[in-house]
Amino acid sequence: MYPLIRPRRLRSNEAIRSLVRETIITPSDFLVPLFVVEGQGIKEEIPSMPNYYRLSLDNLAKEVKELWRMGLCSVLLFVKVPDNLKDNIGSEALNENGLMQLAIKTVKNACPDMLVMTDVALDPYSSYGHDGIVADGQILNDESVEVLAEMSVSHAKAGADFVAPSDMMDGRILSIREALEDEGYTNTGIMAYSAKYASAFYGPFRDALDSAPVDIKNVPKDKKTYQMDSANRSEAIKETLMDIEEGADIVMVKPGLCYLDIVREIKNEVDVPVAVYQVSGEYAMVKAAAEKGWLDHDAVMMEQLLAIKRAGANIIASYFAKDAVKLMG
Ligand code: PBG
Repeated sequence: MYPLIRPRRLRSNEAIRSLVRETIITPSDFLVPLFVVEGQGIKEEIPSMPNYYRLSLDNLAKEVKELWRMGLCSVLLFVKVPDNLKDNIGSEALNENGLMQLAIKTVKNACPDMLVMTDVALDPYSSYGHDGIVADGQILNDESVEVLAEMSVSHAKAGADFVAPSDMMDGRILSIREALEDEGYTNTGIMAYSAKYASAFYGPFRDALDSAPVDIKNVPKDKKTYQMDSANRSEAIKETLMDIEEGADIVMVKPGLCYLDIVREIKNEVDVPVAVYQVSGEYAMVKAAAEKGWLDHDAVMMEQLLAIKRAGANIIASYFAKDAVKLMG
């Protein structure tokens, strides 16, 4: 057919390119992860996540107001828990006046319409840095799920709109759904980290929360007995379909960039919204290369976000949310 069909006609200037563009990023695509610490007046930069901060509650209130003004209307909360409040069963996670519960209320007070999602897993509260309870070198499943369900109810009670279990224990979505129903939180949603891989890209996040598995005898050094093997594809579909059957409203794939094949496959398979978490290590890589002058920060950031959306993400949890929206103008 050449030269009758010339694909370059549709690329010849920005007007035609934007006319035929298939994927567009908007502020409403983003879910903004926020790290909360105890104290007052604190805004401390996370060393392995340049220009990303841990915030005390007063600064959290300011931050969400700013996000709201920028059109960023959904946040995902994480807390950094002091060592003296950590134990093996995550007791502090259930404290009605704990940092997470106060953070939820702070966001809702500052910005009543902001959508608040909360991380549900034991690791920030665990003296061993695991997402569940540790016993005899194992992560206990069903015992951990009980705590996660109680934790979810506690977040709902404090005002969370969605709970986001990131632990990868078996059966936790059903248990959480049932616990929420039993307590009358029928409108509290669940965003399930369904295909969450045991990834080395979580390093900077574990620095941010001081939540890495500890190096003690009889404590597993990694999360490979519960998070998924990076080599697996069909298992991601199985996990995701199970979570939907158990009551997940939104499913998530995590990390992003290395797993976009999984995102597309899940997107083709399911009829619930699909979220993708562009994780801390993905953020850190771009920042580090850009600092060295090796990559164009803004161009690479937008290309990655676009790729995530093109792959099938309806929601993107990203540390770049503010940078990206600023760039969009
Ligand atoms: C903990 C949790 C992790 C992340 C989100 N929730 C870390 C982990 O599983 O060890 C990672 C997020 C990121 O790296 O940005 N359950």
